[in-house]
Amino acid sequence: MRSGFDCASFRVRCLHADRGGRLSAVERQVERLPEELVNKIQAGEVVERPASVVKELVENALDAGARSVHVDIEGGGAGLVRVRDDGRGMSRADTELALERHATSKLRTLDDLQAIATHGFRGEALPSIAAVSELVLRTREGETEAGTEIAVSHGRRLHLRDVGHPRGTTVEVRDLFGAVPARRKFLRAASTEAGHVAEAVTLLSLARPQTGFFLRSGGRRLIEAPPADGLAARLFQLFGDRLLEDLVPVEGGADWAAVRGFVSRPDRPRPSRPSLRLFVNRRPVRDRALAKAVSQAFRAVGGGDRGFEAFLFVEVPPHVVDVNVHPAKTEVRFADGRTVWAAVERAVRQALGEGVRELPRVEVAAGRGEATGVAGRAAAAVGTFLDRGSGEASGSEIEWGGAAGPPDRVAEAEGAAPGVEAPVPVILGQHRLTYIVASDGDELVLVDQHTAHERVRFERLLDRAGRHAVRSQGLITPLVLELPPELRPVLADHGETLRELGFDVEGFGGGSTRLSAVPAILGQKDPGPALERILRDLADREEAGWAVAGTRDRLAATLACHSAVRAGQALNRESMSAIVRDLLQTAHPTLCPHGRPTVVRVPREEVSRWFGRTGWRRS
Ligand SMILES: Nc1ncnc2c1ncn2[C@@H]1O[C@H](COP(=O)(O)OP(=O)(O)OP(=O)(O)O)[C@@H](O)[C@H]1O
Ligand SMILES: [Mg+2]
Repeated sequence: MRSGFDCASFRVRCLHADRGGRLSAVERQVERLPEELVNKIQAGEVVERPASVVKELVENALDAGARSVHVDIEGGGAGLVRVRDDGRGMSRADTELALERHATSKLRTLDDLQAIATHGFRGEALPSIAAVSELVLRTREGETEAGTEIAVSHGRRLHLRDVGHPRGTTVEVRDLFGAVPARRKFLRAASTEAGHVAEAVTLLSLARPQTGFFLRSGGRRLIEAPPADGLAARLFQLFGDRLLEDLVPVEGGADWAAVRGFVSRPDRPRPSRPSLRLFVNRRPVRDRALAKAVSQAFRAVGGGDRGFEAFLFVEVPPHVVDVNVHPAKTEVRFADGRTVWAAVERAVRQALGEGVRELPRVEVAAGRGEATGVAGRAAAAVGTFLDRGSGEASGSEIEWGGAAGPPDRVAEAEGAAPGVEAPVPVILGQHRLTYIVASDGDELVLVDQHTAHERVRFERLLDRAGRHAVRSQGLITPLVLELPPELRPVLADHGETLRELGFDVEGFGGGSTRLSAVPAILGQKDPGPALERILRDLADREEAGWAVAGTRDRLAATLACHSAVRAGQALNRESMSAIVRDLLQTAHPTLCPHGRPTVVRVPREEVSRWFGRTGWRRS
């Protein structure tokens, strides 16, 4: 692939050389870097997917001082990416040179590289994109009359001519990887790619609240964020007020590293996965070590191992951070990583300390080994907190209940399947509030209460969906939700199936979504967050393996997961019995729809062996 880029840019350079004489008369902003500096710059593949194109073009717009950036995509960005800015634009000479490799206006010497304040510095993005797409760039500098248009097709320049254009730059990229089938086939479904694009725009828009960001996918508005006066206002524009209510501000640091931003409140339900949106000197980057620092801070204040949502801005003197580590500039290296780690951990811990005083404490012992009666019920009532502390990834915060009622009504809620009388193992008890222990008279049967219930609900849902008989429950007042931008394409893509499975949900202009009914099995509690988690689950699992195929099955699996009893939840004997009985009547009782085991049987001989009771010694 590397050679592909090189050949293509070589062609651009040759064409340029043919016309070189004319250029030298014009004053230049953009200049070729000296060879030794080029070598210092880590070369690499910049363009991985449409989102990388969007990221590079938006970064260029920001570096050009744009006050607003409009992004339009079609087909998840593989068909079209258009980025329009109102920045300073380029002269004709600069335009021509900008499409050459290692031509940049942002870096002149090695010293500059140690204190880089712009997003770009490699002079690589535009030629790399042009090498694998049909690229048209139109631009005009403020003072000049005529604008310039340059067109490059898969690395070959088509034309350079005058054009009318408002001050600023528009870049259109079509047919990404059209001539590189090997790359094209790695692109995912359009909705997945659109989700990545939305995330790329989200990240840059968080880095620059004062700049306006607008993203449309297939004409549908995914992000509408006019210039805002700070991070909180930008978070509100992107995610709505619900997210902000669940966050605490972070403001702190250590030594020369300042840390500010927002992190999940410890006393609110937290997501099951860690999500850190990290910015170092306003550059969005990934850093596993710093994500661990946030986890560590949660643990330090008794917040357990669950995930979190964090938006953190680390500010350090430019010379202590090397931005030239990764071809896509998405990683940085610190001269002293420990100081930064400590700064993040401390700042987050302090922020959590404010809220943690009211963190509810629950005596797990109250429900342990006593799954029936008052104690069991008490434990069930605080199930959310038990689950939160247990660290068991049930993937759901949705409380047991809603339409199905509290745990001791599982049996009625699910109902015995009519007519089938399979022998039901005798329930012996519940182990660690997670496993049902039973005996069928011969074998010891261990059942994972969550995955088993998931399997039951999954098959039932599909059965009902097949008969158009999924029970849906209208909300008393329809909810208007502000979905995070990256989930909007997921909703658009799965809308039909969501309706089949009991959601009444529709786009409502801008990023708003109206939710009027939910599947009865979800209950009425927090339907908005439930929908969001389900969409996120669908998006996250898009690329991972699934044990079931097809959108409807996946959605049913996700719904089943979110509505099933969780690990950490006390169950009475009747409920456990219902789960085991129903599980044994499913078509595929041994695995949950995500492929995890539901039941393990321990053969009689095995148990006998544990106690030294082999056949002839039986007493
Ligand atoms: N939207 C824009 N407005 C004004 N100038 C631009 C714009 N996009 C690109 N340029 C000019 O073209 C040059 C080349 O852009 P390109 O993205 O290829 O490289 P870069 O931004 O300098 O470095 P990097 O490869 O790290 O992004 C830039 O240095 C800049 O001078
Ligand atoms: Mg750039």
